[in-house]
Amino acid sequence: MSTPTLHKAYDSALFAQEGESLVALLATALSESINKQRDTVTNWVLPEEEYRFWTSFKKEEHSTLEFFKTVLSRSIHTHHPKYIGHQVAPTVPVSALATLLSAQLNNGMAVYEMGQASTAIEKVVVEKFTEALGWEDGDGFLTSGGTLANLTGLLAARKAKAQSDVWNDGHDTKLAILVSEEAHYCVDRAARIMGLGDQGIIQVPVDANFKIRTDLLQEYYDTASAQGLEVIAVIGSAPSTSTGIHDDLGGISAFAKANNLWFHVDAAHGGAAIFSKKYKSLLKGIDQADSVVIDGHKMMGTSSITTAVLYKNSADSYATFSQKAQYLWEQNEDPEWFNMAKRTFECTKSMMSLRFFAIWNAYGNQFFDDFVSTLYDAGRQFAILVKEAVEFELCLEPESNIVCFRYVKDLHVSEYDVVNKKIRQTLLEDGEFYIVATQLQKGYYLRTTFMNPFTTQEHMKELLKKMRVVAMKITE
Ligand SMILES: Cc1ncc(COP(=O)(O)O)c(C=O)c1O
Repeated sequence: MSTPTLHKAYDSALFAQEGESLVALLATALSESINKQRDTVTNWVLPEEEYRFWTSFKKEEHSTLEFFKTVLSRSIHTHHPKYIGHQVAPTVPVSALATLLSAQLNNGMAVYEMGQASTAIEKVVVEKFTEALGWEDGDGFLTSGGTLANLTGLLAARKAKAQSDVWNDGHDTKLAILVSEEAHYCVDRAARIMGLGDQGIIQVPVDANFKIRTDLLQEYYDTASAQGLEVIAVIGSAPSTSTGIHDDLGGISAFAKANNLWFHVDAAHGGAAIFSKKYKSLLKGIDQADSVVIDGHKMMGTSSITTAVLYKNSADSYATFSQKAQYLWEQNEDPEWFNMAKRTFECTKSMMSLRFFAIWNAYGNQFFDDFVSTLYDAGRQFAILVKEAVEFELCLEPESNIVCFRYVKDLHVSEYDVVNKKIRQTLLEDGEFYIVATQLQKGYYLRTTFMNPFTTQEHMKELLKKMRVVAMKITE
């Protein structure tokens, strides 16, 4: 029996009215951010205080629209040009609209019948990637984030390279992977989930430019093998998260081929550069990978979370999982590209293909070229400004939109970390800019990632100016 509450919850007129108001609200926020009418990127509040606020937020006192408005006012604004923090894209509005469409349709995607359009669109989207990678027999699928995508790629590596059938029989040898010490922590997490443990995660040092030491790969591999480890894969970062530096993919690929290893590229951040005429050379060698991960919600402007896992050989994209699910499909052995759950970690999956396709449909590859090229250019521009400013020290020449630097003026080396930590915390609490930080072997560095194509040199100069003032107060 339907009830008055159920009727109200599904009232189409109310949906239209609230939906219109929400889109208007978001459009205003977008315009205020981009047109410099919003003063702050974030209004920082401590977690417990924020929690208290929401526990006292009462249904009786607030309409849905007030709820939306309140969330907006208490959230970080990735569309603000002074948002120069973590690697999350300011969503392209058309991608956000596609997300709304998918959220309301809620097609489950596990099997074709539960996601007819979005499944076929996913194949089209994957083909755009594999074409850009230059793969004739490439294939893949979309999954929920780079973390899960890296795990999925490494599971495929295990299936392809481990001598035993781990999926069915469990482990009887100690498997291992070779990975840069600068790789994103999710690779380590994936390896631990796979049971590789400390010994199986062989961290290869980086050189002075934060690139994996390809000259050490063979030695590390030989030592691991001599210790009885079965190395199955080597991973390249394109780029690594902390510094935005790209590993030498060509060099890693040659090593992988020589030793019959799986070559996985974590291009969650920079894979989108395959669409950038100016910067795609940074990814030289990526076409030699067996699997590649590219996040849409980082450098492609989609809403979160939307990730492509791509395989050079189509068959590998079917090999990872082998599961009987009688209620979903009859033919267990038949690849059936259209029954997505056979290949994805997820069973129910969001219709994330729409988020990519909406951008392609509206603006074509040009958008991705412009987006990546503009943001990587911004990284370079900022590095020049940092080098020109006597108060700051650039960590290293950026290759992408990630730039690490620190305040050093009149400081003893022993004071660098503590002062820069204070600068970062003060900026967070102030809220006008949002930048982050990273701990590198040579110290604590402030870290900016230019995610917003509307961040100009003026914003960059303002940031440095503000930091000088903050630093002076801290050090006086
Ligand atoms: C290189 C790299 N790989 C993987 C990830 C994890 O991706 P996600 O946040 O989509 O799970 C990140 C996130 O910053 C990253 O920078």
